[in-house]
Amino acid sequence: MGKVLISPFRPVYPTPAALITSVAADGRPNIITLGEVFNLSLRTPTIVGIAVGKARYSHELISRSREYVVNLPPTALLEKVDQCGSVSGRHVDKFAAFGLTALPASVVSPPLIAECPVNIECRVIAIEEIGDHDLFQGRVVAVHVDEALLDEEGRVCVARLDPICFMYNHNALGEYWSLGRKLADLRYTRSRSET
Ligand SMILES: Cc1cc2nc3c(=O)[nH]c(=O)nc-3n(C[C@H](O)[C@H](O)[C@H](O)COP(=O)(O)O)c2cc1C
Repeated sequence: MGKVLISPFRPVYPTPAALITSVAADGRPNIITLGEVFNLSLRTPTIVGIAVGKARYSHELISRSREYVVNLPPTALLEKVDQCGSVSGRHVDKFAAFGLTALPASVVSPPLIAECPVNIECRVIAIEEIGDHDLFQGRVVAVHVDEALLDEEGRVCVARLDPICFMYNHNALGEYWSLGRKLADLRYTRSRSET
């Protein structure tokens, strides 16, 4: 079988489906579902990027406050993840409408989502115009995890995360998937010192 050319729309996948919280000047929080969430710098410093369309209400809020929280939802939240990506916070209070619980963050103003087991607080250090989406680069200032995710030695047990993966087929239809099984431990980082 040969190869065929397909549409280049959103060609890299899967990516995590994440819920990003932001806050308006009057304190009202908002949530946007994003498939474009990336680790841009890993440790020194830790920077997490998000790609947000210019027309999104969240784009306006994050540009103003320069803060956001990346909340990683488990598959049990799938319906709410889809709902948060289907309406704009300009018209709807998504916390109230979709039954999500806001918790105060430790450093930034946007709230954590209690139902998400991982919450990453970010302060914007750069906003770059890329194309049809802008790239927000957020320095990570705090990371919260549910205690239930930790093993006996206090390490995050990734098998308990149950994240939602976001995919595209070449007809540009989005699909949600769950993870399958663990294949192996990463040998690369064991065989060299950290860079
Ligand atoms: C699974 C999924 C992934 C999405 N990924 C993105 C994305 O990466 N960037 C983006 O700007 N919008 C993305 N969207 C669309 C926004 O979530 C949607 O337009 C949302 O209603 C905007 O909310 P807001 O106006 O309150 O900010 C995605 C939607 C879904 C359902």
